[in-house]
Amino acid sequence: MSAAKKLFIKTYGCQMNVYDSERMVDAMGASGYETTTDVSDADLILLNTCHIREKAGEKVYSDLGRLRKLKKAKPDLLIGVAGCVAQAEGAEIIRRMPIVDLVVGPQTYHRLPDMVRKTELGLKVVDTEFPAEDKFDFLPRHAKTPASVSAFLTIQEGCDKFCSFCVVPYTRGQEVSRPAAKILAEAQELVDRGAVEISLLGQNVNAYANDNWSLAKLIGALAKIDGLARIRYTTSHPKDMSDDLIAAHGDIEKLMPSLHLPVQSGSDRILKAMNRQHRVADYTRTIEKLCRIKPGIALSSDFIVGFPGEEESDFAQTMALCEEIGFAMAYSFVYSPRPGTPAAGREEIEASVKTERLHRLQQLLSNQQMQFQQSMVGKTMPVLIEKQGREPGQMVGKTPWLHSVHLVASELTKGQILPVEIVRSDKNTLAGEYHGTKRLDKPYSDNSFAGKQIPL
Ligand code: SAH
Ligand code: SF4
Ligand code: F3S
Repeated sequence: MSAAKKLFIKTYGCQMNVYDSERMVDAMGASGYETTTDVSDADLILLNTCHIREKAGEKVYSDLGRLRKLKKAKPDLLIGVAGCVAQAEGAEIIRRMPIVDLVVGPQTYHRLPDMVRKTELGLKVVDTEFPAEDKFDFLPRHAKTPASVSAFLTIQEGCDKFCSFCVVPYTRGQEVSRPAAKILAEAQELVDRGAVEISLLGQNVNAYANDNWSLAKLIGALAKIDGLARIRYTTSHPKDMSDDLIAAHGDIEKLMPSLHLPVQSGSDRILKAMNRQHRVADYTRTIEKLCRIKPGIALSSDFIVGFPGEEESDFAQTMALCEEIGFAMAYSFVYSPRPGTPAAGREEIEASVKTERLHRLQQLLSNQQMQFQQSMVGKTMPVLIEKQGREPGQMVGKTPWLHSVHLVASELTKGQILPVEIVRSDKNTLAGEYHGTKRLDKPYSDNSFAGKQIPL
């Protein structure tokens, strides 16, 4: 029997791409491809790309440039571009980079094995359709390999919101929610393969709607799965933060106390220019309700700084909103005009002004993050042990509030939820110590914690 062919896959962009890459690995696995982490060993290289900002798109071309030499040395090597750059640029990618053999959009990667067969015959293949069929119906089930302790599950894709800066509605298509029964079956399967935490993914995950299922109802049903201890969801739009979903944060203990709810700007004028379809006061009202129902919930957000028309006074309102809310962490970006989006033609703010504002915002946000992390020090909390750390004898886990925790311990089994004392706050992580069965601090209790997963 000939040796299995090797697939090297590189993932850029959001968690949805991480999930998609896993499914592509499964699809190619069924066609006899094994993954490799050594690019020079690969027979097929796939770049699963992101188009969200100019830098993200250009990164793909510089990576492709570097692959030229490899392709020259190994003419049978196949190179594919998948994901959002593939969707946005299609055949243009092959014109610009002739070493590319195939281009596959996010909605057609279930056809990847067929496409690869064609490229093996020397053809160039481009497929960026939005097909009528559901790709998930055609993808093989996950392989029998263990799942990550903390797994992703895509439940909704696409976006109908059309924020004026954003490419996602064009690269991912319309909002589509997968049927609840299929999601529940996939979640069960992930748990059977070792997942303890599931993050539900969608570009607008809280707009999930299929038959009479809402996100809140879906989370309620998922919470009944034995062995699934933690549920999260991302990314949400403020407009779709319904009362039943807010209530779920109080009612469903497996739903973790953190929420990523991007606001983008603290100025109504800019929110309007961005076509965000909500005002600042709507956002703060939602946050107030959430904090009443789940005190101590860790909030995070995305911000765009230097959007066309942003005055110093608009930016001051963004800073004020951050001061008011106090984010556990947040991502912030300077505005990047994207081809084909409504804001692309608008007069831009000077680059130096954008960067200066970004630095001010990032300073504030990083102080808030430090404060939030510091508030964990000295407390003992349930930490989900996820994987081996980079250093020998180190394990990495996660708090309910989404912090990574580094532990000096080599004997802990992945998938356990253990009481860990937080001893130090580092830049983006916490350092923890496990002392056996020490009791947890109140008021938070992870309900799985009292259960079978603790070795006593
Ligand atoms: N669906 C999510 C986020 C998608 S993109 C939502 O609605 O919030 C992730 C983040 O990238 C966005 O929240 C935004 O802050 C940022 N982003 C998107 N387009 C951008 C652009 N053109 N320039 C700079 N940042 C951008
Ligand atoms: Fe982009 Fe706006 Fe849709 Fe989020 S809601 S994906 S920012 S268009
Ligand atoms: Fe990027 Fe596409 Fe995700 S543009 S952020 S990979 S949806």
